[in-house]
Amino acid sequence: MNVNRKTFLRRLGAGALGLMATRGWAERDDGSPSAATPVWNGEDPERFWRQVRAQFPMTPERIYFNTGGLGPAPRRVLDMLTVAGRQLQERVETGHDSFSPARAIVADYLGAKPEEICFVRNTTEGTNIVASGLALQAADEVIFESHAHPGGSFPWLNRQRADGIAVKTFEPDPQNAAANVARIEALITPRTRVIQVSHVTSPTGIVLPVQAIGELARRHDLWFHVDGAQSAGMIPVDLRTLGCDSFATSGHKWMGGPHETGVLWIRSDRIERITPRQVGAYSSEDMNLRNPGPFVYSPGAHRYEYGTRNAASVLALAEAVRFQNEIGRERIAARGHALAERVRAGLEKIDGVDVLTPRDPASRGSIITFRTAKVGYQALFGRLLGDYRLRCRPVSEVGLDATRVSTHLFNSPSECDLLIGALDEILKKT
Ligand SMILES: Cc1ncc(COP(=O)(O)O)c(C=O)c1O
Repeated sequence: MNVNRKTFLRRLGAGALGLMATRGWAERDDGSPSAATPVWNGEDPERFWRQVRAQFPMTPERIYFNTGGLGPAPRRVLDMLTVAGRQLQERVETGHDSFSPARAIVADYLGAKPEEICFVRNTTEGTNIVASGLALQAADEVIFESHAHPGGSFPWLNRQRADGIAVKTFEPDPQNAAANVARIEALITPRTRVIQVSHVTSPTGIVLPVQAIGELARRHDLWFHVDGAQSAGMIPVDLRTLGCDSFATSGHKWMGGPHETGVLWIRSDRIERITPRQVGAYSSEDMNLRNPGPFVYSPGAHRYEYGTRNAASVLALAEAVRFQNEIGRERIAARGHALAERVRAGLEKIDGVDVLTPRDPASRGSIITFRTAKVGYQALFGRLLGDYRLRCRPVSEVGLDATRVSTHLFNSPSECDLLIGALDEILKKT
């Protein structure tokens, strides 16, 4: 580990808060920063983005277009994970006191209050907490899109199986945001209790009109959960204005956090509606077992966290947030969007390629999904990876038979051009 461990140890010894608040802890032995964040240079933006790319220790052996599946973490996040993990091991401490400052950083990033933030392992766990914790009766109805990822749909299908709730799905319309609101509204009945949507859909990257859907949910007094696995880190998320009751996301996709990190947000005035189904230390502050009273939950969303956790992961997730803040979240979103637009424009020039992601810039982010009748999605995935070292994501969902391309801050225009060229070549040879 090429990090000045003495400095690190001193700061960790001063408390995790000191660790979180101190920039430049990850110094090299020669005193140079291990991962100084590049400074924006409007004169030469491509140079800036090359410097950003250099922050990611990704293999140069392939070109990575699958952040929607799993995102790489920048070096300083990995340094935090390893060094904090090692130091906590050496001191044999849980580091649990670092959750509170990390919570504040992540809350600020999402436009939330710290007490509304729960650290989970992934989006799926966050959605499970909501789906299992809401009081629902048999025949109560939940609506979500037919393109939902299993991490969004299975928690509700499991309740369908266990408790007899009814699940209804709508087909997302890629061309018309208002039509999506209308499709959801058409499914609402007196038995409807919950609407859930993906902020950005996984198979084709449609940005759904979450605020309008939130207004609809409020008009009908329904719980509104947003699956933000594909949004946080790709586009700025402000939970003050999104209009949902709960939001779950993963740290290990667009946010650039370590594997097995995620965040669940529950609006503070709605938290009592989500009963924790798993509890342990930290779920309650009442430890008096001589005379156990009614079990009272801890006041914030950390009631859903319990037992010993991996504080190094949480610290590293907070470090990922700081990295994005320093680069600039709007800048990251604009970069991903511009690269996606380059991919879209290139694909549209190739004969026989169908782009499934919306054209309207307001309805899409940094994902472009396409298909071609000439080559099946599995074969195409294999050829792009095997012959051109291009790692995309095959889309088998709902019979789409497509390929998904995610463009994030470490990708470049020339990588996008390589992808277009490769596809053109494959189709000409086919
Ligand atoms: C919309 C959506 N929800 C949930 C998930 C599941 O994410 P995780 O495995 O991090 O829980 C994904 C993963 O791709 C996703 O795209």
